[in-house]
Amino acid sequence: MILMNDFKAEPIELRDAMISAAKRVIDSGWFVLGNEVISFEKKWAELCGVNYAIGVGNGMDAIEIVLRSLNIGPGDEVITTPMTAFATVLAIVRAGATPVLADIEDETALLSKESMLRCISPRTKAVVLVHLYGQIRDMLDWQKICEDQKIYLIEDCAQSHLAIIDGKVAGNFGIAGCYSFYPTKNLGAIGDAGAIVSDNASLADRALKLRNYGQSVRYHHPELGMNSRLDEIQAAMLCERLKWLELFTERRRQIAGEYQAKINHSYISLMAKPKERSAHSYHLFVIKTKKRDALQKHLEGCKVQSLIHYPVPVHYQDACNGMKRDPKGLSLSESHAKQCLSIPCHPQMTDDDIEQVIDAIHTFKVK
Ligand SMILES: Cc1ncc(COP(=O)(O)O)c(C=O)c1O
Repeated sequence: MILMNDFKAEPIELRDAMISAAKRVIDSGWFVLGNEVISFEKKWAELCGVNYAIGVGNGMDAIEIVLRSLNIGPGDEVITTPMTAFATVLAIVRAGATPVLADIEDETALLSKESMLRCISPRTKAVVLVHLYGQIRDMLDWQKICEDQKIYLIEDCAQSHLAIIDGKVAGNFGIAGCYSFYPTKNLGAIGDAGAIVSDNASLADRALKLRNYGQSVRYHHPELGMNSRLDEIQAAMLCERLKWLELFTERRRQIAGEYQAKINHSYISLMAKPKERSAHSYHLFVIKTKKRDALQKHLEGCKVQSLIHYPVPVHYQDACNGMKRDPKGLSLSESHAKQCLSIPCHPQMTDDDIEQVIDAIHTFKVK
């Protein structure tokens, strides 16, 4: 089976380095918020080209902590997309703010600027822009819109490690970027982990406190924070895995290039290619088809795994009945949810695997 992710196929050198790193942490006798975290934060800030990286428990907490650091909470509205991991919206709710859902663009499934503008109200404080699937687009436009509307731009970078536009990586365009290092992400830990990146000193300082009970100095709590600390084992794993990130990202781009050049089927369409001066991180390679169930079954028969990101847009989740949204509706998110299908695009795929996926797609017959 060609899997969506295949950690067991990773290079033996990486596996050995992770085992040594785990031993290093165990031998150190220090397990939470220590030198491994400091070292990872430094490396991640450098790679992202920002002044600060703050390790946190996971990507969802990263968003909540950024919102809370900006004093966004009860009574405030935050605009985002319904075509995202549920965590994006849950983080807004957990911060005490009200999510407002704007629709997406058809060709990218990224947040639509027109729809977002329809969602603006006097209570809007921020937009959480998700670089879905690893795409990064139109960041100058987004900066301008947010500046004009006097609201914060917060980037959800959970799927966009090393996605680049105009020479800058994701997380450089808003007040902060929120990363997840969940194991399946392009840079993944061996458990939950996340980070906030920012150039803003006061946000970074507040986030450092909020991740650790709101503590300023030991046992002093000027405010009520969370427990969202990054542990040493995860940080050590991330330091080792970081050494491979550029190579792995390049491989994802090669695989995507092969798919874009070769997939040709009358019932299947591809998402828009990245614009000039930008590089997609291909966390997911997504195709669209009105015959999704049949295609997914056919692929399985050809020993190719596929997944759907995401089958249920946020406003259709039972927990989100009546959630505020674009008055014109969210029809493009709804149709995307019915048609999107993610096919394998991970760095351990061989050239034969890529051909097998393409052949499997080409042998799909519509009855
Ligand atoms: C777009 C997006 N935002 C946020 C998250 C939340 O990250 P985590 O699972 O680390 O909390 C994810 C992860 O699934 C994601 O894909």
